[in-house]
Amino acid sequence: MNQESKLEPGALRVLIAAGLGFGLAAILMLAVNINGVISLAIGIAATAAVCLVPLRRRDAGGSGSANASAELGSGLPALALALFEHLPDPLMLLDQAERVLFANAPAHAVVGSGIEGKHVSAVLRTPSVLEAIQLVSRSGKPTSVGFSFHVPVERHFEAYAARVETSPALVVLVLHEVTQLKRSEQMRVDFVANASHELRTPLAAVSGFIETLKGHAREDTKAREKFLDIMTVEADRMRRLIDDLLSLSRIELNEHVPPLGEVSIEGVVRDVAGALAPLARAENITIEIEKRTELPPVTGERDELIQLFQNLLHNAIKYGRTDGHVWITLGALPADSRQLQDMVAVSVRDDGEGIPAEAIPRLTERFYRVDVKRSREKGGTGLGLAIVKHIINRHQGRLQIESQTGEGATFTVTIPAARSVVADPPSAIAAK
Ligand SMILES: Nc1ncnc2c1ncn2[C@@H]1O[C@H](COP(=O)(O)OP(=O)(O)OP(=O)(O)O)[C@@H](O)[C@H]1O
Ligand SMILES: [Mg+2]
Repeated sequence: MNQESKLEPGALRVLIAAGLGFGLAAILMLAVNINGVISLAIGIAATAAVCLVPLRRRDAGGSGSANASAELGSGLPALALALFEHLPDPLMLLDQAERVLFANAPAHAVVGSGIEGKHVSAVLRTPSVLEAIQLVSRSGKPTSVGFSFHVPVERHFEAYAARVETSPALVVLVLHEVTQLKRSEQMRVDFVANASHELRTPLAAVSGFIETLKGHAREDTKAREKFLDIMTVEADRMRRLIDDLLSLSRIELNEHVPPLGEVSIEGVVRDVAGALAPLARAENITIEIEKRTELPPVTGERDELIQLFQNLLHNAIKYGRTDGHVWITLGALPADSRQLQDMVAVSVRDDGEGIPAEAIPRLTERFYRVDVKRSREKGGTGLGLAIVKHIINRHQGRLQIESQTGEGATFTVTIPAARSVVADPPSAIAAK
């Protein structure tokens, strides 16, 4: 490239370019109803593209080869390059022959490196995106289209394409990742489906028994007593499920609000152990509390911490061994104790059947149960550990689950001590 084609990005030139670029972005925003971040990205892209116009003009008379395209990309003014590179979304500039003039770092991360000068179809093999680019190139009408990659991992994107009215025109292509959004949409759908299914089963049982009681069991006192007992159990299950769902949504709503109170974890644990003692006695399970160290108070919400340890202890009793033991250790050392400083750790261990290794990472998912039938028999809804996880998140703590099949399970909770939350952060101390 000769000296003449190198541009000096003067302030006036950048101002004019920015005006044109963001003007175009505003029109795009109105025309295709895209969101602010994307229109900002397109605005920046368009600004940079406008900065390039004289360069394009000079180059347009050239060979039009792939090399020329690559050269043109590398001839971008430094300001345009900096703007492109700082965009969080993948962005590509295409020439009239749909070759990649420029791709920023996020684009390289998605479609690979060394793509400058290549035809876009060699870079993105998604027919819908290629059609959208052709359409935009021909009609000048900005367009957006969704597409997905399925390997190596499933990722979903929205591709936004717009023509930049330079001479000759360029196409700017911005990819916006929506994988997280799609996942949460899917989770919401699954959640509603699971919750309805969990409610439908006991409801069907209750409806069935009502019909039976109205029909042939009407005069059968023994059958009536039995059916009423079952109906009570099923109604209880529905009530528990609704309580857990409400509890979960309340905790999720407040998850970003740090708790304010100062709570003694030892007090919480002893209260919970006392409250669940009758359940343990019914299974002839002995609860032992071992105190390794004096625990400082934590910054927390007492009711939520009660619920957290209630769920863990209840699980240890439910899935523990009849005639067995449950050990609660205050000041337990989690296996990975690197971050134990200023943390309060409590573990709940049982000597039941344990949990298969592959199930451990899924335990805190809503409605996940290792053995659905067994959990249902024990009145479980599969929400207990999901609630535990959200309470721990709110308290900025951690949950560690260790288990060997046949040798019980240990759930260790670590929560920052109150003094570590109020104390100066380490960086501030170091700066003094
Ligand atoms: N201590 C444990 N030992 C063995 N398995 C456990 C233990 N704790 C939890 N699990 C397994 O994890 C699953 C999920 O537990 P979670 O507490 O979320 O639900 P649940 O106990 O089935 O129902 P809920 O707590 O809502 O009444 C349980 O169904 C069980 O399979
Ligand atoms: Mg449970």
